[in-house]
Amino acid sequence: MTDNMKKMIAIICTKYGPPEVLQLKEVEKPTPKTNEVLIKIYATSATASDCIIRGFKLPVRMWIPARLALGLTKPRKSILGLVLSGEVEKAGEDVKQFNKGDKVFAHTLFQFGAYAEYICVPETSAIELMPSNISFEEAAAIPFGGTLALYYLKKATIQRGQKVLIYGASGAVGTSATQLAKHFGAEVTGVCSTANLELVKSLGADIVIDYTKENFTDRRMQYDLIFDAVGKKKSSHLLYKKALNPNGKFISVDDDSPGKHAVCKANLIILKELTEKGILKPVVDRIYTLDQIAEAHRYVDKGHKKGNVIITVK
Ligand SMILES: NC(=O)c1ccc[n+]([C@@H]2O[C@H](COP(=O)([O-])OP(=O)(O)OC[C@H]3O[C@@H](n4cnc5c(N)ncnc54)[C@H](OP(=O)(O)O)[C@@H]3O)[C@@H](O)[C@H]2O)c1
Repeated sequence: MTDNMKKMIAIICTKYGPPEVLQLKEVEKPTPKTNEVLIKIYATSATASDCIIRGFKLPVRMWIPARLALGLTKPRKSILGLVLSGEVEKAGEDVKQFNKGDKVFAHTLFQFGAYAEYICVPETSAIELMPSNISFEEAAAIPFGGTLALYYLKKATIQRGQKVLIYGASGAVGTSATQLAKHFGAEVTGVCSTANLELVKSLGADIVIDYTKENFTDRRMQYDLIFDAVGKKKSSHLLYKKALNPNGKFISVDDDSPGKHAVCKANLIILKELTEKGILKPVVDRIYTLDQIAEAHRYVDKGHKKGNVIITVK
């Protein structure tokens, strides 16, 4: 915290572009409204979404609507950062669920703002007491991939006993999807590169396939569900049709913009309970500090992180 108690340090996205557009600045510390909590942030994450928005890496057909929605030359929400863990510093007078000192984790959805020392979020948004058995760094590794994986597996009505293939099982979405699919009773095949085979096996995958050595469709296996957790149209239903049984489903992490259906308190509660039972283990790859954010984004831009890249804010 800076000398002036009304100021805080934050990372500002000065324009769309490479990681260097992210700059450390002193800004106004937010004040909670009556229905909001003020959180002292301890950890956030360099998520795929933060990197996509910072670099404006969107399909051409989305350029105009996205610039209108996000900001023409730079993000209107100049402080990026989708997810966080931290401690409630102050609760607005109408807040009932949280008290000063509560340890929480949250997903800010389209509000962003977690690349900072403090944030205010409504009590009813996607914020929950964080799992009691993990660190702040691990707690910040849950909301992004966890909510997306849960949303898509539920959307695909995953069933006990199904053969499920997770394509991209080692990323933030993939590591969550692998563990959740096992929890839902599926027989899970995880696809990733050589370096991540052991990780994916350790998350419970029954079978792991190295995409650098073979195409999984050549195995002549038929799956009930193929979940593409890589996205960016690297796969498609047509490409994988021969690996789906006649009633099998293909679902991609980029199928839609799940919004509040995925990012909600109810899903955070499920993820918290599964974590406390030891069923869901947050996967943390590298940890950077807030002033190393450009380096963190550079690493995430490569598209091969193992689970999550965490940023500590201290
Ligand atoms: N719909 C939405 O609202 C929404 C929101 C956020 C994100 N997304 C999408 O979700 C995607 C995944 O996010 P994430 O955070 O999980 O990403 P990530 O952590 O970077 O994971 C990427 C995964 O892709 C694999 N991969 C990379 N290149 C590959 C290739 N050529 N062939 C096969 N697998 C490859 C990686 O495995 P290896 O490292 O082993 O190669 C890794 O498992 C994003 O890229 C974005 O498209 C969608």
